[in-house]
Amino acid sequence: MERKQLQALFDEMTLEEKVGQTMQLTGNFFDQSDSAITGPMEELNVSREDLSRIGSILGGTGAADIRRIQTEYLKKNRLGIPLLFMADVIHGYRTIYPIPLGLASSWNPALVEQTAEVAAKESAAAGVHVTFSPMVDLVRDARWGRVMETTGEDPYLNEELARALVRGYQGTDLQMDDTRLAACVKHFAGYGAPNAGLDYNTVDLSEQVLREQYLSGYQAAIDEGAKMVMASFNTIKGIPATGNKWLLKEVLRKEMKFDGVLISDWAAINELIAHGLASNQKEAAIQALQAGVDIDMMSGAYLHYLEEIVEEDESMRKLLDEAVWRILQLKNDLGLFENPFRGADEEREQAELFSPQNRDIARKAVEESIVLLKNNQVLPLEENQKVVLIGSKKNSRDLLGSWSLNGQEAETQLLAEALQAELAPGQLKIVEEKTVFNGLYSYQAADLYQADVIVAALGEESFMSGEAASKSQITLPADQLLLLQELKKLGKPLVAVLFNGRPLDLSDVSLLADGIVEAWFPGTEGAQVVAQVLTGRVNPSGKLSMSFPRHVGQVPIYYNHHSTGRPFTRDKQDEKYLSRYLDVDNSPLYPFGFGLSYSSFSYSQPTVNQSTFTKEDEVVVRVAVTNTSERKGTEVVQLYVHDKIAQVVRPIKELKRFARITLEPNEVQEVTFRLQEDDFTYLHPDGTWSSDAGEFEIMVGSNSEETESVTIQLTNSN
Ligand code: GLC
Repeated sequence: MERKQLQALFDEMTLEEKVGQTMQLTGNFFDQSDSAITGPMEELNVSREDLSRIGSILGGTGAADIRRIQTEYLKKNRLGIPLLFMADVIHGYRTIYPIPLGLASSWNPALVEQTAEVAAKESAAAGVHVTFSPMVDLVRDARWGRVMETTGEDPYLNEELARALVRGYQGTDLQMDDTRLAACVKHFAGYGAPNAGLDYNTVDLSEQVLREQYLSGYQAAIDEGAKMVMASFNTIKGIPATGNKWLLKEVLRKEMKFDGVLISDWAAINELIAHGLASNQKEAAIQALQAGVDIDMMSGAYLHYLEEIVEEDESMRKLLDEAVWRILQLKNDLGLFENPFRGADEEREQAELFSPQNRDIARKAVEESIVLLKNNQVLPLEENQKVVLIGSKKNSRDLLGSWSLNGQEAETQLLAEALQAELAPGQLKIVEEKTVFNGLYSYQAADLYQADVIVAALGEESFMSGEAASKSQITLPADQLLLLQELKKLGKPLVAVLFNGRPLDLSDVSLLADGIVEAWFPGTEGAQVVAQVLTGRVNPSGKLSMSFPRHVGQVPIYYNHHSTGRPFTRDKQDEKYLSRYLDVDNSPLYPFGFGLSYSSFSYSQPTVNQSTFTKEDEVVVRVAVTNTSERKGTEVVQLYVHDKIAQVVRPIKELKRFARITLEPNEVQEVTFRLQEDDFTYLHPDGTWSSDAGEFEIMVGSNSEETESVTIQLTNSN
């Protein structure tokens, strides 16, 4: 619709109709059954008349249902303003990919973009218009359950993957391409840094750290064109984001130049009362509208109080008008006025969901997400080996993760089946773990004794991570550790395959297992690919996007930390008065960027085109990487920068570039990275972003701890 037509429509709207547009309800309010009346409607005090005016629905999916709801709605909506349908398409819609923390381990933005494109195709055919993704909350604390939804601890990797997801969801022409979705970047801001790793808890970040480490992921998504932003539940500088004018108006709207729709998180406007910011729903509605929240997700505060608020205070009318205008623009950007059903198409839905092509992409995503953490010559399995598979996840379909929307567990293969298919007949024996605890004398125990190698499939249940799933302990469940200890007594090569949604404390596992495969929640195609990694058909290439601690007591732990005045370094093992623990090494068990392969790689000393640079110069860094094995493999080459002297303390290293390269056996490939001044800037105490003249260390390697370095000098002279 042309702008002037949209304006004319807007001008016809009554106050009541404008308020309705700001309300978002779940799809069950539109169930044909009367339960919708006695259940949620009563709870939120929503009338049937209200239902004919609300602006959007969340969680409703399915082409037939959405077409029915839209049709019924438009019959009752006086001006024919269509509903927006939104959903949590987080890592796939029906074809489920690895959880985002797993996808991030691929370090492959093009692949991540592809998964978003397919997720959009599937969910758009099912009638979804907007996805509540990408979630770009930086995270350094594995106790927080939603770590599984993030892309980890590094700002640069988060930015690259945020951009890729927005591109994949939105494509280049959202209005005409009805196989795409509008992206909603969340949760603004800093939701991933709650005190004590407790979900919804206080976030207390300095403005320096908030701006330097946490905001760039959201900015990247906004720069890539994300149509919506979701405010977070947590406080920033003592004020909940949902009512935080500084955060939402000053930072998000003005500085970050976001002019799209801002939605609250679930009932977060009401939560201003629990936070102690508002004494009632009316005050909460005023604070949220003044902060610039356009859509009220499931609280009812806007629906029940905005008319009264606007009638009492004309200045609020302008704020309401701005909110409704942005909502109408989003509907127009999606072409809903011309086609209120957009991509909702039952035939296309039937053809698209869980299609072979989509499953192929999911398999590729799993291949590149799996991280080989340990391999003392036990993997890949050999053809003539007798293999035992044991452990709670061997026959589990709980491999999808906690935001797997319409993923069907019934469609999810079992590892036992997949490994059976991968191995020769008779090679695999499945042993129940109770065998071990009932004493190794039962008939099945013979299989354990005769095994050449034991594979233990272990990990978390999907409910143990995700929203409202914080944990104080991040080891494997006690019974699984006990099983590993018992198996170790058999003296057989032992491989642990892990299905989990967070970095775990694997200190005990690393002492017991000879091989460790980190499979995350790998999604619908996970089991088959995990089996192919075990047999070597797939050569793992994943790299951690988040540090795995030695102990939960180290958390929050992250690679890009500051030096401190008393850094604990390798050469100071015997010194006491340093920033160190008495009982554990400071370093993570497995560092950011770490991941093994069945191949092996060596790096030359990095070289630079000049040792002294001005701000206008481009720094060209070259490194030769050799595949020193007899096996073709993929390596993620990583480049880190350390600003040695600055006006505020700088991280000891910061990821600035990475490249996935595939090398034939004994092949040497020269990798070139190009750095510009932007890569050397930081936030100065005066609030400006700029680079200082001085020394920078450039480090290149296969993970954040194993790098070769070269030093360069940035000068002010032009
Ligand atoms: C939840 C989550 C948010 C999600 C929304 C809708 O509480 O915080 O990430 O998109 O509600 O389901």
